Amino acid sequence: MNILRFSDLCAQGKARGQRVFIRADLNVPQNDAGQITEDTRIRASIPCIQMALDAGAAVMVTSHLGRPTEGEFKPEDSLAPVAARLGELLGREVPLRSNWVDGVQVQPGQLVLLENCRLNKGEKKNNPELAKKMAALCDIFVHDAFGAAHRAEASTYGIAQYAKVACAGPLLSAEIDAISKALANPRRPLVAIVAGSKVSTKLTILQSLAKNVDQLIVGGGIANTFMLAAGLKIGKSLAEADLVDQARAVIKAMKARGAEVPIPTDVVVAKTFSADAPATIKAATDVADDDLILDIGPQTAARLAEQLKAAGTIVWNGPVGVFEFDAFAKGTETIARAIAQSSAFSIAGGGDTLAAIAKYGIEKDVGYISTGGGAFLEILEGKQLPAFEILEKRAQG
Ligand code: 3PG
Repeated sequence: MNILRFSDLCAQGKARGQRVFIRADLNVPQNDAGQITEDTRIRASIPCIQMALDAGAAVMVTSHLGRPTEGEFKPEDSLAPVAARLGELLGREVPLRSNWVDGVQVQPGQLVLLENCRLNKGEKKNNPELAKKMAALCDIFVHDAFGAAHRAEASTYGIAQYAKVACAGPLLSAEIDAISKALANPRRPLVAIVAGSKVSTKLTILQSLAKNVDQLIVGGGIANTFMLAAGLKIGKSLAEADLVDQARAVIKAMKARGAEVPIPTDVVVAKTFSADAPATIKAATDVADDDLILDIGPQTAARLAEQLKAAGTIVWNGPVGVFEFDAFAKGTETIARAIAQSSAFSIAGGGDTLAAIAKYGIEKDVGYISTGGGAFLEILEGKQLPAFEILEKRAQG
């Protein structure tokens, strides 16, 4: 992808003394007391900020937090806890500035955090006046918010249109590189795991991947719908009967390319959806009318693990069973460990997937863990994200 990279500008000394505006994604979960419960996105944003400081720039950073009402400040929408955490990670004070659109005081070597950009009126709808004002604050705009790369808002898209220079930060660049390696130029076989409760939410992803991957492993409620499509009974398991034809079409499209959607041959079932419900392993052909399928069975898991170990590239989105309940977690654990042991380049993304990776402690064994939620899914859908579109356009001059 032909885009300008902030690391190149810094290496060429072009950021020295310049006003640099970094759009990060610091949208992290907090508990009711306002404490950050998971700070991956903040840590992932540090290299860009440090790069700008090391380059001698005057550094402004902003992000959205949640989905506040524009123009209505509420304490829970403030980036104050993020400023504190950033300060700890960087080992320096990080002042938080409110009402910043009309001007920001910041000197080379200094860093300021600009309050939640979604509080600005016109942010969501990418108001051009707001975007122009933001662009006027800086010499260089750095998009480093992969998690918001699918949004065309004033601080992600409009500013990139109007800023003197618009480039990708190291996090956005790393995401682009990993995604290109996995989907544009993959080492084969390319295996994708798409799991989740509903086919409807991931149908476009399944259809898009069906054109490219060698094996499309489905899991969770999605696998149940595919089992129906394959003529199997699924009892009272979660499924979407109205999407069986679509599932059949995906299977057919894969077959036509000599590729495969592996259908489970055994499953783990229970009579109720609860952590302490007795778990029974059954052949996929033996599911009773009152059974709930909550995981893939050991035979299926072992077969998929073999495919993953032999893969050249793996794309992982979604746990294959109810891994939050230990009795129904073995399928997801087997898949996770197979990915960890595989010599394939692997890329994983999505909230539940990250939780599974953390549960099995395989962070270091996954090739790339995406910070994007919705953005990662839109990439899998084959969409061009607004962030990449505008940065490519700007790189052309
Ligand atoms: C996310 O959490 O996926 C990103 O920060 C984007 O947030 P949004 O869906 O509110 O735009």
